[in-house]
Amino acid sequence: MKPLKVTSNFEVYDSVEELPQAIQDLMKTAVEARDKAYAPYSQFKVGAALALNNNEVVTGSNQENASYPSGLCAERTAIYYAGATFPEAQIKDIAISAKSMKHMVEAPVPPCGACRQALVEYEVKQKADIAVYFMGETGKVMKANSIKDLLPLIFENSVL
Ligand code: THU
Repeated sequence: MKPLKVTSNFEVYDSVEELPQAIQDLMKTAVEARDKAYAPYSQFKVGAALALNNNEVVTGSNQENASYPSGLCAERTAIYYAGATFPEAQIKDIAISAKSMKHMVEAPVPPCGACRQALVEYEVKQKADIAVYFMGETGKVMKANSIKDLLPLIFENSVL
């Protein structure tokens, strides 16, 4: 037996104002997308904004359903829209913001496990990492340079 230690790297910013202007703008776009969420069941709204290398910005928000599992998270709504609309473009950055209609969310909200798997597929596809920035409604912002920091030991197409 050999132990295997897996490490991930993150940066923590005290507020969004500490980030470069382009990322602040991307986070603002994520917040605007967040307000368009359809979340009558959870009262929890998430917005995602993707910066592409063709200078397009693609957004998504969570879309819920009376049949709960049929809803979709903001991150997957956004990345599937990007893949469907600009299949040749590379995704450079993704900004995510989450807000509860019931209480203030001050801690950074990372993407759920299913979204991590969906996002990492595009890193594999484009052979380039995607930087991810995530926050709550206010407070600290966390950054990772790759989705793989959020999801080590990825399941990818090379095993198929
Ligand atoms: N949600 C997202 O949009 N992204 C995530 O990464 C986690 C959860 C949504 C799904 C559901 O509409 C609501 O937040 C509560 O789980």
